[in-house]
Amino acid sequence: MFPQSRPRRLRRTPQIRRMVRETQLHVADLVFPMFVVAGQGVRAEIGSMPGNFHLSVDQLGPEIERVVAAEVPAVLLFGLPEHKDDTGSEAWAATGPVQRAVAEIKRLAPELCVITDVCLCEYTSHGHCGQLDAHGEVMNDATLQLLSRAAVSHAQAGADIVAPSDMMDGRIGALRAALDEADLSHIAIMSYAVKYASGFYGPFREAADSAPQFGDRRGYQMDPANVREALREAALDLEEGADFLMVKPALSYLDVIRTVADEFPVPLVAYNVSGEFAMVKAAAQRGWIDERRVAMEILTSIKRAGADIILTYHALDAAAWLKEQPD
Ligand code: PBG
Repeated sequence: MFPQSRPRRLRRTPQIRRMVRETQLHVADLVFPMFVVAGQGVRAEIGSMPGNFHLSVDQLGPEIERVVAAEVPAVLLFGLPEHKDDTGSEAWAATGPVQRAVAEIKRLAPELCVITDVCLCEYTSHGHCGQLDAHGEVMNDATLQLLSRAAVSHAQAGADIVAPSDMMDGRIGALRAALDEADLSHIAIMSYAVKYASGFYGPFREAADSAPQFGDRRGYQMDPANVREALREAALDLEEGADFLMVKPALSYLDVIRTVADEFPVPLVAYNVSGEFAMVKAAAQRGWIDERRVAMEILTSIKRAGADIILTYHALDAAAWLKEQPD
């Protein structure tokens, strides 16, 4: 009781504050997402995501150098193909943007961990995450085969980890079986296990040119109101062989991160998504918030909630901020 108990004693100097700090963000926790496009000589800033670029494979060098210099341990690759079609066939083409980018990154920086996003929405003409039936419904089981082909092609190109983000039922088991069959049992699966149908993906859909041409994704992504369902999704994916579980988005779902982290003994990944990044950028550009302070507060809160790994468009900035004088 006051006056004996005075919590402010532990806040008195920066040294004491650092000693009693409970959560420490490390550069090794961060993954930097990148967008690779078909073609040559493309380096175009993504309007809705300042500081992030569409890059063709021949332009990857300087960006990969920045990642390596920042000591960020991993990148997550998204691909924008030359042509889209009904089934998203460029998703598993050996000459697709992701497959070529993986090989190029492994040549440039063999030690950098390369994670590939496995989904069809960037590759399908209709923008949905799977193959459609005659009524425009995504066909779950037919889609599994296409996703498996994409995952195997990424791994054959040299990816270390494949990350399916489609939310079809049974996809982790299908991918695991396909990878094992192709002698790729050493390749890990990072499952977007708990992925909500979220408005926070807005800027990404411009970045990946992957907006659904009709309808929305509520028939396969989760309802933002649900958390018990998150446990069920996570349990299924673990049973099917997921090596990592992901919760996405992060900021409006810190309770979900905590719940999944407490329940399952595997590395937990949180995706600090495009809309979360864009809100910080936009407010900072207007001078309404301090970007560094807010971004670090957000990343720390995601870690405090229970995430081990954070996918974030702020990865390179955060790495630089962590290297500077700590506060
Ligand atoms: C593909 C995919 C999406 C994101 C990652 N993978 C978009 C979506 O599901 O609509 C979103 C990433 C972000 O917003 O930063 N299915």
